[in-house]
Amino acid sequence: MSPNEQNLNKDDILQKTSIKEYIDKNWSVSKKSGSGYKVLCPFHDDKSPSMHISEDKGLYHCFVCKAGGNLVQFIKEFKNLTYPETLEEISNFFNIKIPKSNYKPNEDLGLQKKMYDFNNKVSQFFSRCLLDEERNSKPMDYLKSRGFSREDIEGNSLGFAPDSWDSITSLLYKKKDASSVALSLGLITKKEGQKSFYDFFRNRIIFPIKNRQGNILAFAGRTIGKDKVKYINSKESEIFSKRRVLYGLNNFNKLNGKKPKYVFIVEGYTDVLMMNKYGLYNVVATMGTSLTLEHASEVKKISNKVILCYDSDTAGIDSSFKNIEPLYQFGIEIFSLRLDSGLDPCSYLERHGREKFIDLAKKSSSIIDEYMDYLKDKLIEKEISINEALDSFVSKIRYVQDYIQRDKFINKFAASFSISKVKIESIINKEFIRADSPKQSIPTNRILSPEDIILKVFVEFPDSRDSKSINKYISIISPGFYKEMSKILLENIEDEASLIIGKIQDSGMNAMFSDLIFIPFDVPVELSARVKLIKDCIRKIELNLIKDSKRLINLKLSKDVQISDEEEIELLNDLKNLIEEEKALT
Ligand code: GTP
Ligand code: MN
Repeated sequence: MSPNEQNLNKDDILQKTSIKEYIDKNWSVSKKSGSGYKVLCPFHDDKSPSMHISEDKGLYHCFVCKAGGNLVQFIKEFKNLTYPETLEEISNFFNIKIPKSNYKPNEDLGLQKKMYDFNNKVSQFFSRCLLDEERNSKPMDYLKSRGFSREDIEGNSLGFAPDSWDSITSLLYKKKDASSVALSLGLITKKEGQKSFYDFFRNRIIFPIKNRQGNILAFAGRTIGKDKVKYINSKESEIFSKRRVLYGLNNFNKLNGKKPKYVFIVEGYTDVLMMNKYGLYNVVATMGTSLTLEHASEVKKISNKVILCYDSDTAGIDSSFKNIEPLYQFGIEIFSLRLDSGLDPCSYLERHGREKFIDLAKKSSSIIDEYMDYLKDKLIEKEISINEALDSFVSKIRYVQDYIQRDKFINKFAASFSISKVKIESIINKEFIRADSPKQSIPTNRILSPEDIILKVFVEFPDSRDSKSINKYISIISPGFYKEMSKILLENIEDEASLIIGKIQDSGMNAMFSDLIFIPFDVPVELSARVKLIKDCIRKIELNLIKDSKRLINLKLSKDVQISDEEEIELLNDLKNLIEEEKALT
């Protein structure tokens, strides 16, 4: 190879190199398989080659541990290098010159570090306020009455925000820089039209929200006064997004690197802390919102099984059923643990202890079984019709990507509701297309949803992308993975898959994307056929949306809660319109 003096830009790097060549020479020689190559995966304890390499696309993907990406990502992970070091490695190995301007460090890192440091300082201040019992013993007394010792409190860096308007502001000493950080973290706020700041958290117990590395991203504050709002959170910032963050992840390091068999998902901060106190560290909670796809992707990195342990009231049951969709989309198995007499894990552990809790957890049932029982009850009470029960059931299991698993659920539903399996399958088959895996020896049982197929076509065939059709797609899909990916596509409308994958920040999304690209599906080569495929899939998604809205209206109409005549007329009218829209689409 002669030195190539041409200056390359970042995106060129992936075009002028070969991922197969790099892996062959630096790790292990890959073998031909289907249209690509296979090699032992270096990122998990692999017994038979599970990592697939696509030379055409410049990508790798492991179907077992879901590691995937382009050459840059491979080297970064494999050699544990920083981005500039990775570029240097590529430059040396392929003998190509990469201009220094590509080495610029991530600009956001500076701000991120500032924010972590600031939260850390503030957290120490809150801790001092809590531990200063001479000044105010109320917060400490409160936590002790809830069963937390001084040790638990210090170990979890709990704090107290004094009942004052200017504790944080006076910490800042008029430092302009610090004020702007505090403002963007939501620790202080400004009244509209006024110049001065005041504290956001007042007279509240403070729970720092940390990431897995222990950096403080935000705070939650529980009132111990008369405030009607029980919990408030720091506002969303560059380092904090409720959609992504899970409370409790930082204590996973207490598992000493052991991969837990399952993860508990609970509702509250105190539940997490009490479980930790009883030596259960494999537990997380969302910030009072329902579980998102991003949360599910975090969970997936830890375990393939979750036990949902939500309150046993209607709200708790409803939200645990809502969690089915995102978790199933990541192929996570879900069990449900219901504690009796309305206790949450925190109060249950205090009252009955660890043994009993674990016993119950071991006996927890599959959430889909519970959901079927729930539908059955509603059916018996004539709150819903059999068609509605079937529709609701399908709406949950349409996210099960493993068709063997799905078959099991369908058999159960068919037996329990005396519906023919053929009927259920005919509904599902209208919505799904199965990846033809056996032919290509890809170890996946995944079924592709219409959302998947459209994204796959867009990604693999840049010529089928135009902003109009991508925007149409964006307008009908729910927030999460597909929407985020579409935005990346819009911003990089001509880029190949190997460049697109480098733009994904979230590792869970990266894994989903990589999985999707490597799943075999015969995308038609001809443009017109692809356009038609996209159209068909869009219609399917629209039909699913209509079905969901219809189900919601029917539920409202059938509930025993009182609705006014006007509301009922409005709902019936909406229903009529939806049925017409549905007709027009079929
Ligand atoms: P304690 O009453 O302190 O034991 O808290 P808890 O965790 O048992 O509270 P609860 O079961 O009422 O709520 C569970 C979770 O929902 C909490 O941990 C919060 O994340 C969230 N939550 C509860 N109330 C509010 C609220 O008023 N506002 C917000 N944003 N979140 C809330
Ligand atoms: Mn609770």
